[in-house]
Amino acid sequence: FAHQALTGKHVLITAGPTREDIDPVRYITNHSSGKMGFSLAEAAAEAGAQVTLVCGPVHLPTPDRVKRVDVTSARDMLAACEAAMPCDVLIAAAAVADYRPEVSAAQKMKKDPNSADGMTLKLIRNPDILATIANRNDRPFSVGFAAETENLLAYATAKLRDKNLDLIVANDVANAAIGFNSDDNAITIIDRQQQQTSFPQTSKGKIARQLIDFIATHINKV
Ligand code: C5P
Repeated sequence: FAHQALTGKHVLITAGPTREDIDPVRYITNHSSGKMGFSLAEAAAEAGAQVTLVCGPVHLPTPDRVKRVDVTSARDMLAACEAAMPCDVLIAAAAVADYRPEVSAAQKMKKDPNSADGMTLKLIRNPDILATIANRNDRPFSVGFAAETENLLAYATAKLRDKNLDLIVANDVANAAIGFNSDDNAITIIDRQQQQTSFPQTSKGKIARQLIDFIATHINKV
């Protein structure tokens, strides 16, 4: 069969939100739909890669020839990614909750019938999945997303450095046409030399193919 850009490569992709339990009936999450990560998984498989897609709770069909691993919390997502190693490329498209409740109550929490007071929920930091994998000795070519509402390129460049990435994909989520849950995206890719490559607004499927082509060219260069 024809040689494709990612033939023989194992590509690990995270997608969707994570869900952090407060008690058995309540949780903290975010608006990530998983569309970008699923489009990337589809495009990587079409480019010949062996794809593992680790995803939080989403309502999307699994792309053909993709191994899907469903997880709930950030800690589950990290464990699933570690179990899927080694890989040649990691693309972290998941919107991982930065914090989780310090304790997840075993029983449903009850409000105090004798008090109108509020309640305080203590949150603690979640592990950074992308930074953890990108700093391993067997680190893959590591690609992150920077979804920002301001100072997009400055924050993205800082994230590339802080998390030890090869590429960062900057995404302006203040623009509703290309943000969370939208069908379109527009991206600027920044590499370690701070070189920028922009792809204008188009469908997430098309952006995914452009990004996969870009990654294939970059990994074959190094
Ligand atoms: O720091 P920030 O959350 O903005 O970084 C975004 C990038 O890092 C995304 O690629 C996201 O998937 C990844 N990330 C992660 N684990 C976290 C937080 C972010 O993998 N706990």
